[in-house]
Amino acid sequence: MPDLSKITCIEDLRVVAKRRVPRMFYDYADSGAWTESTYRANESDFQKIKLRQRVAVNMEGRSTRSTMIGQDVAMPVAIAPTGLTGMQHADGEILGARAAKAFGIPFTLSTMSICSLEDIAEHTGRHPFWFQLYVMKDRDFIERLIERARAANVSALQLTLDLQILGQRHKDIKNGLSTPPKPTIANMINLATKPHWCMGMLGTKRRTFGNIAGHAKGVKDLSSLSSWTAEQFDPALSWADVEWIKKRWGGKLILKGIMDVEDARLAASSGADALIVSNHGGRQLDGAPSSIAALPAIVDAVGSEIEVWMDGGIRSGQDVLKARALGARGTLIGRSFLYGLGAYGQAGVTRALQILHKELDITMAFCGRTDIENVDSSILLPGTF
Ligand SMILES: Cc1cc2nc3c(=O)[nH]c(=O)nc-3n(C[C@H](O)[C@H](O)[C@H](O)COP(=O)(O)O)c2cc1C
Repeated sequence: MPDLSKITCIEDLRVVAKRRVPRMFYDYADSGAWTESTYRANESDFQKIKLRQRVAVNMEGRSTRSTMIGQDVAMPVAIAPTGLTGMQHADGEILGARAAKAFGIPFTLSTMSICSLEDIAEHTGRHPFWFQLYVMKDRDFIERLIERARAANVSALQLTLDLQILGQRHKDIKNGLSTPPKPTIANMINLATKPHWCMGMLGTKRRTFGNIAGHAKGVKDLSSLSSWTAEQFDPALSWADVEWIKKRWGGKLILKGIMDVEDARLAASSGADALIVSNHGGRQLDGAPSSIAALPAIVDAVGSEIEVWMDGGIRSGQDVLKARALGARGTLIGRSFLYGLGAYGQAGVTRALQILHKELDITMAFCGRTDIENVDSSILLPGTF
């Protein structure tokens, strides 16, 4: 077990992950589309929101416990779906799911994961988890995927609506992102500096898209995320497909990637259980507002009809508290999770969750609240949000 006592914030984990993870995969996580302005705004807009410090309020007996779509959570944070997670660290999705289970928060597996639905079920004692679905042209494949999710004890489906086509990320093109990495001279030199990662990869059989390879027609050997995306992601995705998937699945449904009030209204009337205000971590439409800036209008419009969550830019428990204050019942973390994983595997994910929890708990107390359920916008300084 590594000594993580000196790892005190998410930024510490990012620095270690950058050292340990091959450049191609570190860059894949730590980048946004085009100029990355939305990616940066996701973080920096949180900083503009100021908290009201209260004093001489009894801070004993605090609780960050809450619920997301009726599920008990140790804090209102879930792990967001991230593709290629098993390339940040060998067996990354299994390790993330285990850490989330132990902490008492939900884990979401991406369609584009390395470990499969069946892997997660097998290695977490069939503990319920969430699955994120991308809609592909091959609807038979989607139907089978939904059945596999059901069999793996998935308790909620997250349908991602903001990736019919792929936002351009310069670094991925320049690095020639592929799974596993192509043995170019530049890649070999870079891999030689990542012995810990290489040992992990040599020790696992999970090195390609576990939910897809061997399951989709004509897809045995995926060499490139972007060619698969170009070929199979359905640019014609519509609200009729949302209805079709809702019917096929029949369980809890979460719609991910809502940034506009009109879309939020459509999401609410679709009968879904929650929507996620999300710009895909700034990886799709560069120039869109930050998620935290988009949140209040969406909460105003549909907050009484559907649970509204958000993700994008959460790097501390303070960000979780601010999102909650602005009406997000739940939040999701992408990079804060990936940095922990890339740095130290499961122990790093656990550390990331401990860091967020401690920051959330203490900040809530400084704002004069002892129960996350009693947090609202009155903890924020007027004029700063
Ligand atoms: C490396 C990476 C891969 C991602 N892959 C997916 C994915 O497969 N499906 C999906 O719905 N969202 C995906 N996302 C978006 C996340 O689910 C989430 O919306 C985003 O990471 C939140 O922003 P944050 O990273 O600032 O927390 C990905 C994000 C990252 C950083």
